[in-house]
Amino acid sequence: MHENFSLKPYNTFGIDAKAHYFTEVSSVEELLEALNTPATRTLPLLFLGGGSNILLTQDFEGLAIRLNLKGIHEDLINDNEVLLTVKAGENWHEFVLFCLEKDYGGMENLSLIPGNVGTSPMQNIGAYGVEIKDTFVSCTVLNLENLQLETFNREQCRFGYRDSVFKQEGKGKYVILEVSFTLTRKNHQLKTSYGAIQSELEKLNIMHPTIQDISKAVIKIRQSKLPDPKKTGNAGSFFKNPAIPLIQFEELQQKFKNIQGYPNGDFVKVPAGWLIEQCGWKGKQIGNVASHQLQSLVIINATGNATGKEIFDFSAMIIDSVMEKFGIELEREVNII
Ligand code: EPU
Repeated sequence: MHENFSLKPYNTFGIDAKAHYFTEVSSVEELLEALNTPATRTLPLLFLGGGSNILLTQDFEGLAIRLNLKGIHEDLINDNEVLLTVKAGENWHEFVLFCLEKDYGGMENLSLIPGNVGTSPMQNIGAYGVEIKDTFVSCTVLNLENLQLETFNREQCRFGYRDSVFKQEGKGKYVILEVSFTLTRKNHQLKTSYGAIQSELEKLNIMHPTIQDISKAVIKIRQSKLPDPKKTGNAGSFFKNPAIPLIQFEELQQKFKNIQGYPNGDFVKVPAGWLIEQCGWKGKQIGNVASHQLQSLVIINATGNATGKEIFDFSAMIIDSVMEKFGIELEREVNII
């Protein structure tokens, strides 16, 4: 157990906030041990995976536990499918690469997403027309109230757009320890409808893509517009794309002729990046914080010296200007600590 420990290497924003106590665990036994000492039983807890979806706005006056459980277990279900059970501490992209190497299909569109497997169900990570709910089977969690293991199936996880039970009523109550997915072993169902993937495949001159080709295209697209957290602190999209009532969208269309929207039942999803850009934030820097010059939905620690509070205040200014110009309230996707 470390005391007054800097979490800078453990959050992709690179914020230098301290945890009063910090420990790393590599097994369920070590996790139970860390939770079960008289000193830790009453402390607030912060569980860290890849640290790619948190903003630390202050020092954490409790026990931060980094989950380092590793391992991928394969069960060949039949000729067509494989069940993969993956421990929480596996890096997401390395897991995707493992699938591609074995020619298991279903994860290729989710290439290069930062973070760990254990946090992927929290916000039902997604990109380029695929979300983890599409291949998810179940996850094993530790219930923090009674320290018992439980299994959540897909329905119980209540996945939505960047949402799950673990961000709603289950918030703070469970630690995800491992996640199972069913992937295809042949006849892969390719998802290439997303415009950017199609044009990237065309550029690469690929007519009949494999899952490996799709991964390559996704990696190219992501690298071309998203900052690498190893070089520039960020947590990917900072806000969700808001869904507004159709009637509100139609009113906005009168005023803003080129507003984009993707119909979703009675609602229309509007790209937050577009709204933010229209308010003049794209590439704009205030102090140590900026909106990324190629994708304004991503807030970056531009100098490497930003505090979480500065980033939070910057995001509040963006929320205010989008509200003022469009009457739309942006919701933060990143967890604020
Ligand atoms: N746009 C702008 N200005 C910008 C950014 C975007 O006008 O500064 C427009 C684009 O031209 C495009 C539309 O907004 O027409 C959508 O942009 P993009 O394709 O980049 O996707 P996004 O909706 O901004 C979402 C996810 C990303 C994911 C991509 C691809 C959310 C909050 N974000 O971004 O996820 O990679 O789609 O599927 O849903 C993440 O969650 O961290 C993340 C990067």
